[in-house]
Amino acid sequence: MNEDKFHKSVLVREIIEALNLKKGAKVIDATLGTGGHTSETVKEGYRVLGIDLDPLMLKLTKERQLEGCILVEGNFKDIDKIALAHGFGKVAAILFDLGVSNLHLKSIERGFSFSNPDALLDMRLNKEDQGVSGADLLNVLRKDQLEELFSRILDYRNTKEITKRVMEFRESGKITTVGDFLEICKAIRGKNGLSQATLPFLALRIAVNSELENLKEALPKAFALLEKKGRLLVITFHSGEERILLDFIEEVEKANLGKNLTEQPIRPNAEELNENPRSRSAKLRILEKHD
Ligand SMILES: C[S@@+](CC[C@H](N)C(=O)[O-])C[C@H]1O[C@@H](n2cnc3c(N)ncnc32)[C@H](O)[C@@H]1O
Repeated sequence: MNEDKFHKSVLVREIIEALNLKKGAKVIDATLGTGGHTSETVKEGYRVLGIDLDPLMLKLTKERQLEGCILVEGNFKDIDKIALAHGFGKVAAILFDLGVSNLHLKSIERGFSFSNPDALLDMRLNKEDQGVSGADLLNVLRKDQLEELFSRILDYRNTKEITKRVMEFRESGKITTVGDFLEICKAIRGKNGLSQATLPFLALRIAVNSELENLKEALPKAFALLEKKGRLLVITFHSGEERILLDFIEEVEKANLGKNLTEQPIRPNAEELNENPRSRSAKLRILEKHD
């Protein structure tokens, strides 16, 4: 099997340990990717419904020929409808491994990565489903909307700087390519050894794919699908996602509907960090529904 063809999954052992279910238990993998977590889950004898917004991810996972799982193209914000349509109306566990896969970041044509300046600044996970690309957003949003977009990830000063540069760039022509956005990103400072472009690219990707809105909508729907003692497992990669998850956990605990099993999030161990440096920002939290 060509390993480069698949996403390098994070916290796999920890996920399997946290599931610890009876054979035949129903599990939803709301962010299937190339099926790294799902393939291990299937080995435990669980029945899995795997969902992904990106048709390419489904195509690649199908090549794994996994037994005992149903694969569906869809947005996890519709997890309630998708689950019901496939007989997964009550499940033992649901996994969200948020963000995009290594394959998205490595793909030189889709505009997620800044390694190919000539690529169109697209960043959509699903071109059929989403009409607006990264370049479109930068070209049409008003100044205050751009500030809102960047402020979700960047600090105040860098948000102001980069917005100013976008507005200036627009005066001389359209923003089209990754290279155009890289030019704009020169306006800001890199942080903690990150490239100048890392956080602006992340902010734009999150906006193009409505990542935070989708998560906000999906969490309560997913929690409602859990049977008693069912578990919601969520891996976050940045503070935007984490804030939404922590607010949701607080809401559930206040309403006495469930319990946070991870006072401190579970992080990759040294061995995983060494093998897969991208895992460094991964944090797993587990919420269990009450009896
Ligand atoms: C980090 S990857 C998951 C990797 C997967 N756990 C594995 O082991 O291969 C996140 C996946 O979520 C998908 N995704 C992002 N937003 C989504 C959404 N709203 N609905 C469904 N899938 C989404 C992306 O296309 C990507 O494949």
